[in-house]
Amino acid sequence: MRIQVKAGQLGEVRDGVRVYAALEGEQRPEALLPASTAREPTLRRLVNASGFRGALNETLWLPHGNGWVLVVGLGKAKDLSLDRLRQFAGIAAHTVRSRGQRLLSLPVLAARGLGPAADAAQALTEGALLGLYRYDRLRKLAKHEQAQRVDAITLVVERAGDVAGARRAAEEAEVLAEAVSLVRDWINGPSNLVTPTFLANQARALARQLRLRCTVIPFARLRRLGFGGVVGVAQGSAHPAQFIVLDYNPARRARKTFALCGKGITFDSGGISIKPSAKMEQMKYDMSGAAAVLGTVKAAATLRLPHRVVGIIAATENLPSGTAQKPGDVLKTLSGKTVEVINTDAEGRLVLADCLHYAKRYRPDCVVDLATLTGACVVALGHEAIGLMTKDERLAARINQAGKATHERVWRLPLWNEYAPLLKSDIADIKNVTDTGQAGTITAGKFLEEFAEGLAWAHLDIAGTAWADKDRPYVPKGAVGVGVRLLIELMEQWK
Ligand code: BES
Ligand code: MN
Ligand code: ZN
Repeated sequence: MRIQVKAGQLGEVRDGVRVYAALEGEQRPEALLPASTAREPTLRRLVNASGFRGALNETLWLPHGNGWVLVVGLGKAKDLSLDRLRQFAGIAAHTVRSRGQRLLSLPVLAARGLGPAADAAQALTEGALLGLYRYDRLRKLAKHEQAQRVDAITLVVERAGDVAGARRAAEEAEVLAEAVSLVRDWINGPSNLVTPTFLANQARALARQLRLRCTVIPFARLRRLGFGGVVGVAQGSAHPAQFIVLDYNPARRARKTFALCGKGITFDSGGISIKPSAKMEQMKYDMSGAAAVLGTVKAAATLRLPHRVVGIIAATENLPSGTAQKPGDVLKTLSGKTVEVINTDAEGRLVLADCLHYAKRYRPDCVVDLATLTGACVVALGHEAIGLMTKDERLAARINQAGKATHERVWRLPLWNEYAPLLKSDIADIKNVTDTGQAGTITAGKFLEEFAEGLAWAHLDIAGTAWADKDRPYVPKGAVGVGVRLLIELMEQWK
C-alpha cells in the first residue's frame, strides 16, 4: 500500500476513485468539499439531485467522467473534528475496496477549524489504513475478497506549501497504523496461538528488527526471583508464563524515561473462581494491555522518540487446574507485600503488582499501566472511554489531552484514600477484591496504587475500549488496538 501526497485540485486527479466530503444541510448537502468543487457544477448537480444529505458517514457512489466518485457525509459543520476526518477516510477506503477499486484520492480538508493540513493528513491516513484492517489469517478468503485490495491512497492538498508537512504527518500515521494493526492481530488471535511464549517471541522479533533490548524471564525463574503475583496466576496453566521487558533507548541521551506496564492474560477463564461460559471466548482479549504496550514500544522506536520507553508485561493464562491457586491463598508479591486472593478472577491486578514494582528499577519519570482490568469499568463507562486513575494532576491533564487529540478518550475516577479500607485483609497486607460489590474499578486501581509507591503513575482500565462488538468507521469488529496512539501522543507532547 502506497500513500502519496500531491498538491492540486481533487477534480483534476486522473485515476482512481475521487472521494468528496459533504457537510449536512437541511435538504441537500450544505456544502461539497473541498472548496474547489465550486468549479465542478456537474458533480454538484448530480449530488444535489440524488437526495444525498451529507449525514455523518452517509455514502453516495456515482459514475462520473470515465471513473467513479464517492461522496461521504461529514455531518453538521459545527460538529466537525479531526476524528470525523478519521471516520471519513475509514469509510472511504473501506467502500472503495468493497467496490473492487484499488486507488483512491482524499482531499486534505484543512478548512473550518480543522487545524493545519498536517493534522488533517495524519487523521486521514490513520483512518484509511485502520479502516482497511481485517483479520484474515485463519480463514480462506472468498474469491471476491481476494480481488479486493487497495493499492494506493493519494492525499490531495490545495496549497503546494502544505505538501512537505502533510507528507511527514502521513508517514507518522503509517507507522502508527502499522503498530495498531499488529496489536489487533495479536488480540484477535486465539489463545491457542497467542500464548505467553508467542508474545515473548514477538517481542524478541521486534527487538531484532529495531535494535531494542529484550529480556524474557520464564516461569521457573519467576518462581525463584519472587514474582509471587505472576506465579500465583500462572501456576494453574500448562503454558509457562513469560515476563517480558522490551526496552527502547534512543541513541542520544534520553530526555525522559517512560515505563509502560501491560496486563498480558492470554486467556482469562477466571481460574478456580471460574467465569460463566457465555462469551468466555472473548477473554482472549485480556492481553490487550500487553499488546498495546509492545505496539507502543515498536512505534516509539520506529519514530525515534527522544525518550526511553520500557515496556514491561506479564504474560500468562488464568486457568483452573490441580495446581491452580485457590480462593483464600496468600501470595507474596515481588514488592514483599502479601496478598490474600479472595477471588482468582481478579488476576490482572496480581500480575500488574509485580510489573509496577519491577518498573521502579528504571527510575522512570512516568509510569502508565494498561489493563482490561474490570467488568465494572464497562458498566461505568461503556465502550467510549478508558477509565483513568491517578493522583498526579499534571499527568491526568496530559493523558486527558492526549485522549482528546487521538480520540482515545479517558474519563477519570478517584483514588481517594477513603476507598482503601475496602481491601483490608484479616491475615495479609491486602486482599485482591472487596466483598462489598462497591466501586469495582476504583478498588482495582487502589490495589495497584499499593505497588506504585514513589512512582508518577497512572492506571488505564481499557476493559470497555479494547474490543468492538460491532464495526465502526475505522475499527472493524474485534480488537481495537486502543492505547498505542494515546501513549505515543502523550510521549510526543511531553516537554
Ligand atoms: N479480565 C477481567 C475483566 C473484564 C471483564 C474485562 C469483562 C473485559 C470484560 C478481569 O480479570 C476480571 O475478571 N475482573 C473481575 C474482577 C472481580 C472478580 C472483582 C470482574 O470484573 O468481574
Ligand atoms: Mn479475571
Ligand atoms: Zn482478566
